[in-house]
Amino acid sequence: MSQPLTTIKSFTSTKPPQLCTYLCLIILCIIGFYSLHHPHQNPTPKPQTALHFHSLFLSSASNSTISSYLRALTLHPHLAGTKPSLDTILYVQTHFQNLNLNTHKVSYKTLLSYPRHSSVTTHFSNGTTLDMPLNEPGVASLDVVQPYHAYSPSGSVKAKVVYVNFGTEEDYRKVSSMGVNVSGCVVVVKKGEFLSRGGVVKVAEAKGAIGVLLYAEEDDGLRGGGIERGTVMRGVGDPLSPGWAGVEGGERLDLEDNEVLKRFPKIPSLPLSLENADVILGSLGGPMVPPEWRGKAQRVGPGPSMVNLTYQGENKMVSIQNVFAVIKGLEEPDRYVLLGNHRDAWTYGAVDPNSGTAALLDIARRYALLMRGGWNPRRTIILCSWDAEEFGMIGSTEWVEQNLVNLGAKAVAYLNVDCAVQGPGFFAGATPQLDNLLVEVTKKVEDPDSQGATVYEKWETTDRLINIQRLSGVDSDFAPFLQHAGVPSVDIYYGRDFPVYHTAFDSYDWMTKHADPFFRRHVTVAGVWGLLGLRLADDSILPFKYLSYADQLQGYKDFLSNLLDESISLNPLTTSIQELVSAAIKVENEAKRLRKQETKGDFVALKIRALNDRLMLAERGFLDADGLQGRQWFKHLVYGPPRDYESKLSFFPGIADAIFQSIGMGRRDGQAEVQHEIWRVARAIQRAASALQGELT
Ligand SMILES: *[C@@H]1O[C@H](CO)[C@@H](O)[C@H](O)[C@H]1NC(C)=O
Ligand SMILES: *[C@@H]1O[C@H](CO)[C@@H](O)[C@H](O)[C@H]1NC(C)=O
Ligand SMILES: *[C@@H]1O[C@H](CO)[C@@H](O)[C@H](O)[C@H]1NC(C)=O
Ligand SMILES: *[C@@H]1O[C@H](CO)[C@@H](O)[C@H](O)[C@H]1NC(C)=O
Repeated sequence: MSQPLTTIKSFTSTKPPQLCTYLCLIILCIIGFYSLHHPHQNPTPKPQTALHFHSLFLSSASNSTISSYLRALTLHPHLAGTKPSLDTILYVQTHFQNLNLNTHKVSYKTLLSYPRHSSVTTHFSNGTTLDMPLNEPGVASLDVVQPYHAYSPSGSVKAKVVYVNFGTEEDYRKVSSMGVNVSGCVVVVKKGEFLSRGGVVKVAEAKGAIGVLLYAEEDDGLRGGGIERGTVMRGVGDPLSPGWAGVEGGERLDLEDNEVLKRFPKIPSLPLSLENADVILGSLGGPMVPPEWRGKAQRVGPGPSMVNLTYQGENKMVSIQNVFAVIKGLEEPDRYVLLGNHRDAWTYGAVDPNSGTAALLDIARRYALLMRGGWNPRRTIILCSWDAEEFGMIGSTEWVEQNLVNLGAKAVAYLNVDCAVQGPGFFAGATPQLDNLLVEVTKKVEDPDSQGATVYEKWETTDRLINIQRLSGVDSDFAPFLQHAGVPSVDIYYGRDFPVYHTAFDSYDWMTKHADPFFRRHVTVAGVWGLLGLRLADDSILPFKYLSYADQLQGYKDFLSNLLDESISLNPLTTSIQELVSAAIKVENEAKRLRKQETKGDFVALKIRALNDRLMLAERGFLDADGLQGRQWFKHLVYGPPRDYESKLSFFPGIADAIFQSIGMGRRDGQAEVQHEIWRVARAIQRAASALQGELT
């Protein structure tokens, strides 16, 4: 266990720094000066000193700086690859530079997708025609990109409309059971939690639909007529450089290459406002919708109303840029702790993603403050500002692909924040060895919404049990780090499902009116995020608990044993999880011993380094060189998206795929397929256990 910190208020007002802050700084300067001139007595900051700096980090929070960063970042819409996005690149870069942080940019040439023209016209059975422009009320600025689906093919289709609820397989089965065939029709789909935008279009295409109109329901009246933009590309990263970095002058696939074509939908799609969706759905005939679909729609169709959906887009090669600030580690410069957030936005991006960017910039400010007080992290900290996430995690993915070996050998953890503040309530996802650290850190940071309580206390009472999600989704930049490179990852945010998601109303104004009027939640996210970074960078022994990982895997195994019939053996999993448990216990004991001897010189320092390497590399064991079958980019066998979105498994994606595939196979073949994937996962767990244990067989 690491030494307990006392709870420190993370929140201060706009008042100037207090006297004690100055005193602290002076004392820290003296300590820094002393250690500079007495290298023998004090070669490295003692844990006590690091602890002191961590307290200083928490007490140097400021809502006014964060709000000013957010204001500056959200002055104009800044879609990736457009001119105004260059201003935000410059803003982040200048901020880092002004803090004297070592700053650089890395650019890629990637294929992005923009709209040129779109129209939706509905032809009713009474002969009237209604144009349904994709306008959001009160949005006059031409800088705001019109609502569209990036990478939708251009095309014009006119056909009868069928309503298919969320557009899941189950929904199509229901439609089909009513004798309605969507083949040749335009489907109207309600955005649900089960399917991604690209997933909706993919299923519709498979059912024979020729166009898709997607709308988002309004549950709280706060959307304000906003229309949700988004990508419909499949997969992760630049479509023309799948698996490698899209550097200037590098290899690029042809647009007609099958690898490229399979990433794009074949039928056009557009988003639709709720208001227009209601008009279209209200005009449908045909059978009544199943009662469980709820909502305003009465009938399924097809028609009699017809829709003319016309979309013309332009896919073009543009330059995107990631911006980095690097704080070199004093003792272990070749070990990396990465904090990342994307910068590009569909519109103004106050929530998505610049609430996170503002927090990142404030962490930079506060880390720089610690450095001025004499602090240097033990390990290297890298602050990452990604580009083109909205198009499919492109900036982060290209960078991870380009730096795969160095990250594999040296990255300790990746800490992601995307939409930092969406509303009330703390949410977190993590790989399980980081659960414990997450809990420890939330015990040090004050809750923004209840006086005198920590984030942890509020989180615990809200969720009853602390609920840490897992990172199997591909909805933010942790995906390449964890699912491709096997880097332990965290993702945190306040609030969820905010109503102005991907609309023109995701603005600074909305943030101050609805999500975080006094920027307290921003301060809290920056506190948790920044302190996680400090602990991972400064703790002499990495704060990873692999017993939590083993526990989680045991839970997954139990879940599988209820799901699968007895002909399939889970013994391989049982054995490998047991190996992980033994290795984890051994490591805990070793860490305890080493902690006691920590001050005993270089020999112990090397032992600690070796132990940390095992802690760091264990996660890589879950990677498989061959990756998931048919989706080789996904290398992680514990966390990744299942191919079948209706899968009951949100872990072991390879096993999930095999279960899905086995449906169409003979019983024996299907079982063999599932059993094989179970073996693969078991071997992955064994690799992790053996990396942690650290001995050759
Ligand atoms: C729907 O119609 C298409 C084209 O007419 C046909 O090929 C397909 O088999 C039909 N599907 C069902 C489920 O009837
Ligand atoms: C035609 O039908 C549509 C949809 O039901 C309705 O909105 C419109 O008012 C109707 N027009 C006329 C002239 O009846
Ligand atoms: C559909 O609308 C587009 C754009 O207004 C138009 O060019 C096209 O002719 C229309 N298609 C049909 C079949 O009416
Ligand atoms: C910062 O917090 C203080 C105290 O709650 C508040 O008065 C002030 O308005 C906040 N500043 C901003 C920019 O929200």
